[in-house]
Amino acid sequence: MTDLSFIHRFEPATDPNRPPLLLLHGTGGDENDLLGLGRMISPGSALLSPRGKILENGMPRFFRRLAEGVFDEEDVRLRANELADFVAEARKTYGLEAPIAVGFSNGANIAAAMLQLRPEALSGAALLRTMVPLSSAPQADLSGKRILMVSGAMDPIVPADNAKQLAASLSGSGAEVQHDVLPTGHNLSQTDLQLLVKWFGR
Ligand code: MLT
Repeated sequence: MTDLSFIHRFEPATDPNRPPLLLLHGTGGDENDLLGLGRMISPGSALLSPRGKILENGMPRFFRRLAEGVFDEEDVRLRANELADFVAEARKTYGLEAPIAVGFSNGANIAAAMLQLRPEALSGAALLRTMVPLSSAPQADLSGKRILMVSGAMDPIVPADNAKQLAASLSGSGAEVQHDVLPTGHNLSQTDLQLLVKWFGR
């Protein structure tokens, strides 16, 4: 794959009316994980799928954490900026509009940080099992951006209030946020897929 600053996969669009997607895997995943999901939820979209550069016991991630759900916030800032720079490079190389991020877990958390730190990098985001990435984030202008958040009511990693707090912060910054809470845990379910298909269909 073209030599950019992240190892990645790229699939060109086959439907020019569909937005490009930035696919961001969870801890231990890689650039191949979400390609199938991307094709299903927005058929014909260009797919840009980087691999996180951090290794935690051999598992790729997008930023360092001190413990599960406890983030190294300095690294979150650094990595969110680095990923936004990659998106800018890839947009030039592949001729893309600003993508919609589709992130799961750690991938959703870096996407949330990008929205807060580098809002120009993304035109919107679907954040699956996400949580607050930064305890104090700058007030970004997210007007005109659509964000879907899907949380699990029984998620052992993301406390319900934490996800609610992120939804409130993103909509307080002007984004059009849809936050759905499913009766499930951290793993994705068939209902996530249905919600994504519906949201992308709008
Ligand atoms: C994170 O580290 O981003 C969250 O704890 C979710 C995870 O990747 O397990």
